[in-house]
Amino acid sequence: MRIAVVGAGYVGLTTSACFAHLGHSVVCADIDEERVRRLNKGEVPILEKGLPELVAEGLASRRLQFVVGAANAARDAEVVFLCVQTPQGPDGAADMTYVENVAREIAPVLAPGTVVVNKSTVPVGSTRFVQRILSESGVRHDDVTVASNPEFLREGQAVHDFLNPDRIVIGCERPEAAVRVSDLYRRVDAPILVTDPASAEMIKYASNAFLATKISFINAIANVCEAVDADIREVALGMGYDSRIGFQFLHPGPGYGGSCFPKDVAALLRTATDAGYEFRLLQGVVEVNRAQHEQIVEKVRAAAGGVLAGAVIGVWGLTFKADTDDLRDSPAIAITRRLLEEGATVRAFDPAAAEAARALVPDLDDLPRRVPGGRRCRRDRAAHGVGRVPLARLRPGPRRDAPTRRRRRAQPPRPRRDAAAGIRLRRRRAPVSPR
Ligand SMILES: NC(=O)c1ccc[n+]([C@@H]2O[C@H](COP(=O)([O-])OP(=O)(O)OC[C@H]3O[C@@H](n4cnc5c(N)ncnc54)[C@H](O)[C@@H]3O)[C@@H](O)[C@H]2O)c1
Repeated sequence: MRIAVVGAGYVGLTTSACFAHLGHSVVCADIDEERVRRLNKGEVPILEKGLPELVAEGLASRRLQFVVGAANAARDAEVVFLCVQTPQGPDGAADMTYVENVAREIAPVLAPGTVVVNKSTVPVGSTRFVQRILSESGVRHDDVTVASNPEFLREGQAVHDFLNPDRIVIGCERPEAAVRVSDLYRRVDAPILVTDPASAEMIKYASNAFLATKISFINAIANVCEAVDADIREVALGMGYDSRIGFQFLHPGPGYGGSCFPKDVAALLRTATDAGYEFRLLQGVVEVNRAQHEQIVEKVRAAAGGVLAGAVIGVWGLTFKADTDDLRDSPAIAITRRLLEEGATVRAFDPAAAEAARALVPDLDDLPRRVPGGRRCRRDRAAHGVGRVPLARLRPGPRRDAPTRRRRRAQPPRPRRDAAAGIRLRRRRAPVSPR
């Protein structure tokens, strides 16, 4: 199928390269001319495992090309994916300006029968919103269908997640358009849920809000554990063995961050408030997360002897989590700023985002690759975010490390490898009955 993807960021670029890998013909557009120029030379501007290989494969097979301008991509497309940013607006709601701009740009070139798909994370009602913008721009309502197909990939695992999703969600009023979108994923082994647009849009927000809740919950439990001298790692391990709970997102640390959770939680709170529901549980999740940054600052203060002014502090890892170069809403950056405000000298190292971080926090010093003990900073440790290492290191208590064998058993099964694409594929799972 001929696909246009608008936006060559984490989601758009992954979507483009993966659809090309699945055999479709993809034109990916961005407004950033330099980005498009580099991509056409095979230079991938973001850190994503397996993505450079898939982009190279797509360019070589001519199934993937990059252009400047949404209209240039949408002209001959049967399906157009909108993958532009939806940042947090001043009132917490998602800022739909980029989506609206793209809808206006592509409207004049859309052929009758085209399906326009919102893949950006957009609030309930956005499918209708895009349909309205297209109508205002002269597109006949019956000629073009707008659908929702939210994306659930994780940065750092984007290619793997796109090709091995837990589920594919399609929200569409017209069954024939939903079938067209689902056909694009024919070679992907995952359950497909076709629903109405509002439910599809809500599934994305509810999923992210639930994961953020898990993170704030385990951080709150960690704080109680410290007060009563229980070991949070043992507690998380014991909880994770319960299949209803699972091990994921049970890692205490500096709180959630990144380009999705903070803004998506804020947007869902806005949606709830506008609908007349006071979502107190989610308000608590945000509050715990905010306080967790301060918790880390206090731990560092205590480790520095009670005074941060004049202390020299090393920070390994500035991105919001490992295996990404994304600094958006990184707790490491927020905590680093607080330490600097208190008069500390901060020496930081990040293998993937050092320069970008320095642009965000000009007062940062460089941390040498060698730590004082003479060991070399390991990349994985360096990329783990400020919270992981200090939290583990600063925590007193005799039973800090559970035996290795027990830890190994706690890990979920390892995925097998698809040698051709160099991508990890998950084993086929047995169907799970609803609980
Ligand atoms: N990053 C993630 O992990 C992730 C996961 C799931 C969903 N999402 C959602 O997907 C959407 C995109 O996120 P992202 O992280 O890929 O954003 P991003 O900022 O990395 O990429 C957006 C791209 O869109 C381009 N763009 C903006 N306006 C344009 C226009 N008019 N024409 C062409 N290109 C244009 C920008 O130049 C940029 O390259 C957001 O709504 C986000 O919430 C993100």
